[in-house]
Amino acid sequence: MTTTDYIQWTAEAIRGLVRPNILNVTPYSSARSEFQGRADVLLDANESPFDNGMNRYPEPLSTDIRNLFAAMRGVHADKIFIGNGSDEIVDQITRVFCRPGVDAVHALPPTFGMYKVAAGINDAEFRAVTLQPDFTIPVDALKETWDDASKILWLCSPNNPSGNLMDAAVVEDLIRSFPGIVVLDEAYIDFVPEASFVPRLDEFPNLIITQTLSKGWGMAGARLGAAYASEFIVDLLRTIKMPYNINVLTKAAALEALAAPQRMHDRVDLLVSERKRLEQALGELDIVDHIFPSVTNFLLVRFTDSDKVYRYLLNEGIVVRNQSYQPNAANCLRITAGLPAENDALISALRALNSPQR
Ligand SMILES: Cc1ncc(COP(=O)(O)O)c(C=O)c1O
Repeated sequence: MTTTDYIQWTAEAIRGLVRPNILNVTPYSSARSEFQGRADVLLDANESPFDNGMNRYPEPLSTDIRNLFAAMRGVHADKIFIGNGSDEIVDQITRVFCRPGVDAVHALPPTFGMYKVAAGINDAEFRAVTLQPDFTIPVDALKETWDDASKILWLCSPNNPSGNLMDAAVVEDLIRSFPGIVVLDEAYIDFVPEASFVPRLDEFPNLIITQTLSKGWGMAGARLGAAYASEFIVDLLRTIKMPYNINVLTKAAALEALAAPQRMHDRVDLLVSERKRLEQALGELDIVDHIFPSVTNFLLVRFTDSDKVYRYLLNEGIVVRNQSYQPNAANCLRITAGLPAENDALISALRALNSPQR
């Protein structure tokens, strides 16, 4: 690894990373944020007065949800942004920092696909450096790719689709040395909470951490993600967000789920033990070449012939994700841990395919 000059970020330098036009945007002012005090009769927002639980616009900043995340993660609520899934936050971060046609983002495939999509939408250059065959970060090769156009470095830990955590010392070195914003995507952190960088957020002015209710919390359909960052960065995300990005139905479901974290922990524990069971059972099959170590609710598995396995499983009504087109993932399928009976079905199907009669 090359010796590193660590960057000392001033507030002015962070400000200098932002697209200049974004600094001049005045956020939309919603009806309800324009008064304070009693609100017995609401005739200010052209809503319908008939109460059906969703006739009023949602509170724009999702304050009640931010307060729950703040208490749970030990972060001030002003350093938390709530998005319509972390997908929305990926796009917003790209939009805030990248001047179209000028700036660049960096990512380490095989990884989550939305970083590249958001770069494409926002006309940011996408610079990819492939992870090493064991899915660790090639630090020196990565550092060679960044320059004055570099605005965002996407790090995904645990990484999708490989399932591994990135080394914390490497992550720290990259946050300290990257000349822009480092986004640490912790979508799968509920499966390995002790690895989160959120407790260290205040050490790094150029760090944004994203998390989601879609994985451990089991609420992918509700669409709710969180970003943790400095108040300055959170304010920028608030400035460009759609006024009511989190709807009232999602909020109600999220508040209920966040009030009962033990249910999440119990399900995470079950899924982790199911992942281990899958790992054990699949490891005994000749058609399995390698199982990559995972700390998540899924496994990346290299088969001797992934296309054949993929087609066979589809024919059995079992859908997994084909990753064989991804760099360093030839012949790999990504398999999510399901309910015990679903995992039993997968194991028996694969055992049948593995049997010498076929
Ligand atoms: C690494 C990673 N980040 C983010 C997401 C998207 O999460 P959300 O449902 O919050 O948009 C996913 C979804 O698969 C993911 O794997």
